[in-house]
Amino acid sequence: MSDSISNEIEIRPLRSEDFDSLVQLDSVLLKSEERYAYWEKKFAAFRLRHPNLSLVTIHQGKLIGYIMGNISGWEFGIPAGTGWIEIMGVDPDYQRQGIARRMMDELMNQFRTLGVKTVYTMIGAKDEHIRKLFLSAGFNEGSWTQLERDL
Ligand SMILES: CC(C)(COP(=O)(O)OP(=O)(O)OC[C@H]1O[C@@H](n2cnc3c(N)ncnc32)[C@H](O)[C@@H]1OP(=O)(O)O)[C@@H](O)C(=O)NCCC(=O)NCCS
Repeated sequence: MSDSISNEIEIRPLRSEDFDSLVQLDSVLLKSEERYAYWEKKFAAFRLRHPNLSLVTIHQGKLIGYIMGNISGWEFGIPAGTGWIEIMGVDPDYQRQGIARRMMDELMNQFRTLGVKTVYTMIGAKDEHIRKLFLSAGFNEGSWTQLERDL
């Protein structure tokens, strides 16, 4: 990360007043309509979690990134207490400056503080740049396989 931006950003827990900025950033990243209903549900879910697992990056007052984690129960037989990175996004004007990596590092610190020993995520098999991002952050290939069936 360049020194200039690194010194100017703040990574902090998500607050309710971030809602509109988050919806807008999400719609820019997805190149789609603003998903107010989706984010309302997500915000309700985040409130049930530890507040330090939903983080945003702020630069000069502007929300430019987000990362949301969770700690799972026994879903799919995965042991309780496993951390998950669920969603992450960085404003296109700020990408490739190490902001996602910084947010991942901060989320890992929060997981460690909460006693989490292993963190999982899911990525698309063809999303090479996202694979690269996670490998550069110390993730390895896991031992689970996703199965699916068309209906
Ligand atoms: C994926 C995303 C969050 C990465 O954010 P970012 O701040 O640009 O990532 P970083 O700058 O921290 O990248 C760290 C490393 O990841 C890899 N990487 C990240 N984006 C990449 C890209 N577009 N192409 C190739 N490698 C990439 C590189 O190894 C990079 O290190 P380098 O720049 O020194 O080569 C951002 O591109 C994004 O918001 N994409 C749209 C939403 C999305 O796909 N989210 C992830 C799934 S939830």
